[in-house]
Amino acid sequence: MEILLSTGNWPPKAWVEGLSKSNLVSAVHVWPTESDLSNVEVLLVWKPLPAGIIELLPNLKFISSIGAGVDHLLGDSQIPLDLPVARIVDERLTGDMTNYVMMAVVMHQRNLLHVLENQKQAKWERHHYPNLRVGVMGLGELGGHLARTLSGAGFEVSGYSRSSKQIDRVATFNGADRSEFLKDLDVLVNLLPVTSETENILNKDLFGQIKPGAFLINVARGAHLDEMDLLDALEKGIISRAMLDVFKEEPLPSDHPFWGHPKITITPHIASVTTPASAMKLVLENCRRLRDGEKFLHLVDLQRGY
Ligand code: NAP
Ligand code: GLV
Repeated sequence: MEILLSTGNWPPKAWVEGLSKSNLVSAVHVWPTESDLSNVEVLLVWKPLPAGIIELLPNLKFISSIGAGVDHLLGDSQIPLDLPVARIVDERLTGDMTNYVMMAVVMHQRNLLHVLENQKQAKWERHHYPNLRVGVMGLGELGGHLARTLSGAGFEVSGYSRSSKQIDRVATFNGADRSEFLKDLDVLVNLLPVTSETENILNKDLFGQIKPGAFLINVARGAHLDEMDLLDALEKGIISRAMLDVFKEEPLPSDHPFWGHPKITITPHIASVTTPASAMKLVLENCRRLRDGEKFLHLVDLQRGY
């Protein structure tokens, strides 16, 4: 079968080499291309979804996001509602996200930024550090693994999801329980998908319900965060510090107020990046399923939006 690959800003080389080795795949086209795409059955795409791409693919049978998120696809009217859309669920992607958030939580718990400042002045200052209650919004593939790992590492953990869940040693909340979930948190981690219900969910209403002085970690999407409300909450000390990996506009413009903010730590959307060699297995398994007429793995529910 023929695949069209559109990796956005990421180099396509590793995908092309890996996919081409499979005997399921007869051609890998890389967007942008002038070649004949009329036999392409699979579109493998990271953001943005190029304008007009779908109409060039009359034989398209299946779309896969190159990441866990599908907001770049579901929000685009080019995607036909009857086309199966899948996403990446991958051990490496999950582990990398958990490691990033664990790093952020432990840095916060040990006050590492302060310790690094002290080093510049050769200052030896020791202190006790508290245990923390960490709240994870979104208990799916990534949030669920994170909540279990945090709990295993000795943190107190709360989790919030749409449907009710039971996870060992994690206090779980859903739906209308949001204020109960938020009120005891020292750290809030956002791992929700972007949907019409979750867009701008990190706003002044939510900040008003959280334990004052909480640390915010946003590793899901910039579309979840009301940026002005965060600046206001930081100013008032409602949120003590934020670690942000994702932004409404990426790359974050160089004149954005977040860059120089003393209470914001920025990383450039690297909390967890799809590793082609690892995620390739799932993509090829879905190609096999397409060939054999079997149900795809990790399909997105287009109505639900994630
Ligand atoms: P997932 O498996 O689909 O899990 C989503 C979770 O969010 C589920 O627990 C779901 O609840 C919950 N949820 C959805 N809508 C909700 C709502 N309105 N209220 C409360 N809970 C809601 O997604 P995932 O694989 O864990 O990925 C999560 C997101 O992480 C992705 O969408 C992507 O945006 C982001 N991400 C970022 C990076 C990065 O590098 N920064 C890397 C990978 C992914 P139910 O369990 O009840 O359905
Ligand atoms: C990265 O942001 C992803 O959705 O995988």
